[in-house]
Amino acid sequence: MEWEGIIKEYWDFLPIQKPEFIVSLKEGNTPLIRAFSLERMIGGGFKIFLKCEGFNPTGSFKDRGMTVAVSKALEEGSRAVICASTGNTAASAAAYAAKAGIKAFILIPEGKTALGKLSQSIVHGTKVVQIKGNFDDALNIVKEIGRRYPITLVNSINPYRIEGQKTAAFEVCDQLGFAPDYHVMPVGNAGNITAYWRGYREYYENRIVDSLPKMIGFQAEGAAPIVKNRVIENPETIATAIRIGNPANWKGAIQARDESKGIIDTVTDDEIMEAYRIIACKEGIFCEPASAAGIAGIFKMAKMGFFKKDEVVVCTLTGHGLKDPDASMRIAHVPETCPAELDMVIKMFGI
Ligand code: F0G
Repeated sequence: MEWEGIIKEYWDFLPIQKPEFIVSLKEGNTPLIRAFSLERMIGGGFKIFLKCEGFNPTGSFKDRGMTVAVSKALEEGSRAVICASTGNTAASAAAYAAKAGIKAFILIPEGKTALGKLSQSIVHGTKVVQIKGNFDDALNIVKEIGRRYPITLVNSINPYRIEGQKTAAFEVCDQLGFAPDYHVMPVGNAGNITAYWRGYREYYENRIVDSLPKMIGFQAEGAAPIVKNRVIENPETIATAIRIGNPANWKGAIQARDESKGIIDTVTDDEIMEAYRIIACKEGIFCEPASAAGIAGIFKMAKMGFFKKDEVVVCTLTGHGLKDPDASMRIAHVPETCPAELDMVIKMFGI
């Protein structure tokens, strides 16, 4: 049977009333891949699984929330959506609005949106505007526009976004056959950690799983408002997706952390880029820098002996590496050029 997208697959858990308004690109059903090389490198005998959300239609987990938010917008008679974004929400909103045949307005921070995400947003025929400000400034502006005009806000303060994103937790449980001991992920605007925790709780309350994971989130050192317990006015990190100083779902993240007896901690940009390189070189998975924050966090916690033998750790890789080609070119070597001659090529390869 072909996968029908998260709304039809998890119908009983989602607030959609009118199937005729569903807007789907068959998102979800992303692979959960065991990271044997990482396990060997880190040691300690615990298991690591990667939930590869970059395999979604627009290359990030945002599609799960966007299918529900845009379907609900249509159901309620809306003809336009708006969002602020560090890039992935923008790409997803643009694609789902195109599919729905409605307008999308997108506001992004100038010069801080990865090239892949920017090109996705533009190609779908969306109106994209950049501000001389950061994500937090952009979110304040679109919230006001949403209040003044009949345009649906599709940032994760829209409750339907969280509803859709919780389905990733369902899938992890369905794929493993049980709930993991830990779920690790990057934290930016904090919608995703809120959503996963809700998903795990709903499966637990419906007795589909008989345990709950501890939720472990990581923020970049220069953009860590939750860890530092204060708004960061000028957040800075190479992981532009999580360059956020005042997360909209701050409370949801704290609740996920505290109810699950988990942790939200920081990782440095150097740690993020090292993890990014290792996942690509050792696991064959190309994710974007923000996604690698979770893996960097696993390295950090494992060094302190946090995870115990046989425990199961799931880490969400939130977005695809092709989103941010500049980041990969920064750490990769530039290919050398030689004449089109067999001997020269063999020499260049050092075979
Ligand atoms: N990873 C990626 C690749 C992201 O794009 C984001 C958020 C996060 C992690 C953090 O998730 O915000 O739910 O805590 N990107 C948003 C955007 C802010 O506009 O695309 P979060």
